[in-house]
Amino acid sequence: MFRLAHISDVHLGPLPDVTYRDLASKRVVGYVNWQRNRRRHHHDGIVDAIVADLKAQVPDHLAVTGDLVNLALDGEIELARLWLQTLGAPTDVSVVPGNHDAYVPGAFDKACHAWAPWMSGDGSHGPVRRTSFPYLRIRPNVALIGVSTARATAPFMASGFFREGQAERLAGILEETGKRDLFRVVMIHHPPVRGAVGQHKRLLGIGKFQKVIRQSGAELVLHGHSHLPTLHWIEGHTGMVPVVGVAAAGQAAGGLRPAAQFNLLDISGERGNWNVQLTRRGLSVPAAPPSEVSTIDLTAIAPHRALLVRS
Ligand SMILES: [Fe+2]
Repeated sequence: MFRLAHISDVHLGPLPDVTYRDLASKRVVGYVNWQRNRRRHHHDGIVDAIVADLKAQVPDHLAVTGDLVNLALDGEIELARLWLQTLGAPTDVSVVPGNHDAYVPGAFDKACHAWAPWMSGDGSHGPVRRTSFPYLRIRPNVALIGVSTARATAPFMASGFFREGQAERLAGILEETGKRDLFRVVMIHHPPVRGAVGQHKRLLGIGKFQKVIRQSGAELVLHGHSHLPTLHWIEGHTGMVPVVGVAAAGQAAGGLRPAAQFNLLDISGERGNWNVQLTRRGLSVPAAPPSEVSTIDLTAIAPHRALLVRS
């Protein structure tokens, strides 16, 4: 059995000192938003409790699906790099960037540079660039495939982008790893499902992504961005593919959004006969430690392809 843990939308704080120069951009909007909202409802103590409970479950690997920071200030990117070091060896932790990690022009490249050990494919030691995505890591019979949808956008927008170049590379990786009978996990920040988030936060390229999965196949998609513990299904090459979201890792209990959670995916079996169990753990009561929220057998509840209303 391979145990894959999944957290997302860590939004590490507090913000380092912010200068007026830093705020002369989209960051003004984000700073106001952070002061009003995330500062109150996101706490590093919660992230610490979630990570401690996650480590106690002894996962084989950890997927972090983006939004490690808030405004992508240089100090935040460095803080996130130090935090990543506390999670485990970079070979055991795979990160994909979110829109907050590419908050303003130039931030994406800085995050790629600082977090390269966690965002590089097996055997890749060169710099991480936009064209490095998707990257591929193979951990015994599981292929971890990291897609980037992160790009700086206009104020009040949090869109993601999945374009032709990445679609072609993703299809190639899925074909190759499929032939090797691997369990293929695609990690992506924005949910590749219509209606999962508001218009200004949506992924541009959902149709393209779903077409790749339909034609080349995958066994599991993990995403963040919505801050919601959702489960959707999209059509794969030989069956339905679960698309799993997760609550934000620093969200306090008692707010409007679901309190902090993480996912555990227990993967066993072999091609044609995979078994995947999804356990959600997290906070449900303020001041109580994380506990199990739910467990479902994704293999048992997979809808039949004929029942699919294509989204
Ligand atoms: Fe996001």
